[in-house]
Amino acid sequence: MSEPASAKLSSVADRLLPWYDRHARRLPWRAPPGARADPYHVWLSEVMLQQTTVQTVQPYFHAFLARWPSVHELAAAPRDDVLAAWAGLGYYARARNLHACAQTVSRDHGAQFPDTEAGLRKLPGIGPYTAAAIAAIAFDRPSAPLDGNIERVVARLFAVQDPLPGAKETLRARMGDLVPHDRPGDFAQAMMDLGAGICQPRKPRCMLCPLAEACRASARGIAGDLPVKAAKKAKPTRQAVAFWTVRADGCVLLRRRPDKGLLGGMLEVPSTDWTEAAWDAADARGHAPLAAGWTELPGVVRHTFTHFHVTITVWAAQVPADTTVAAGEWWPFDRLSDAGLPTVMRKIADHAVKQGAG
Ligand code: ADE
Repeated sequence: MSEPASAKLSSVADRLLPWYDRHARRLPWRAPPGARADPYHVWLSEVMLQQTTVQTVQPYFHAFLARWPSVHELAAAPRDDVLAAWAGLGYYARARNLHACAQTVSRDHGAQFPDTEAGLRKLPGIGPYTAAAIAAIAFDRPSAPLDGNIERVVARLFAVQDPLPGAKETLRARMGDLVPHDRPGDFAQAMMDLGAGICQPRKPRCMLCPLAEACRASARGIAGDLPVKAAKKAKPTRQAVAFWTVRADGCVLLRRRPDKGLLGGMLEVPSTDWTEAAWDAADARGHAPLAAGWTELPGVVRHTFTHFHVTITVWAAQVPADTTVAAGEWWPFDRLSDAGLPTVMRKIADHAVKQGAG
């Protein structure tokens, strides 16, 4: 089969938009093809969708809008409420930035999101991808957002064989060349949908693809091999001991993490540092939040973050009802679900309960 001529690539939008008109996913933050969505909805969904799936995000999106229907209301909410409502979506810096961004838009922009990529980039938590996505989807600017789905579609269309992440700039430029002046927002969303439903990672469904005739990788039979990814560094595994402290009045000891860094500003079950070396019992005891009769629970809790795995041993203790600590908060156990514990901390609590230390 002959190689698709580059001239044909100019017709990518002409092929893709009619496909989108028929096959666009119905998603709660979207306007139907041809219409503009509410910028607040687009911004909220794009921040939630960074590193998280469409499936996971939907209930959170509905819950946020039900509670904070406008950017003013989100800006006025206590930050801890926003962090707690975010719990389970991961990457809590995003929730802190979300709240800071809502405050900036509400206070400095009269609740109107800037309608250009450059203006959006100045806001907290809005990087190049998110600015381009919002500019395109909410304001129909001819921007070229490049998420994982779009990277894959573009790498295949142009048979780009340089490995990611090095190839990113090439892909960004190629995507930029494809963006039409008519309906750029729908074009961006169509590329996302094509990547999610047709141009899938290992098994592209080229028979169903509206762009198959223009696709160089498909013509060469190498679509499933692209994009090439540079070998990933192996993730290290860190170790920790967490201290599950139950007071006789039914409260559990939690502590708020520092604002900066991993799980910043979130509540946690107190623990030792998370280190690559294992903890021996005497060292771990020195990091306990209080002196108590600690018992090591059977089993461990495992969790994976972007850059490392962690294996957590849980120690439990029962303490008298009048126990106090210098740093920490005693949470009624039966209200623990309101604490907005991040997933790894919820796993620790579930493990302690399963081992009879509730
Ligand atoms: N992933 C990131 N943004 C998206 C959007 N607007 N629609 C579907 N998937 C997405």
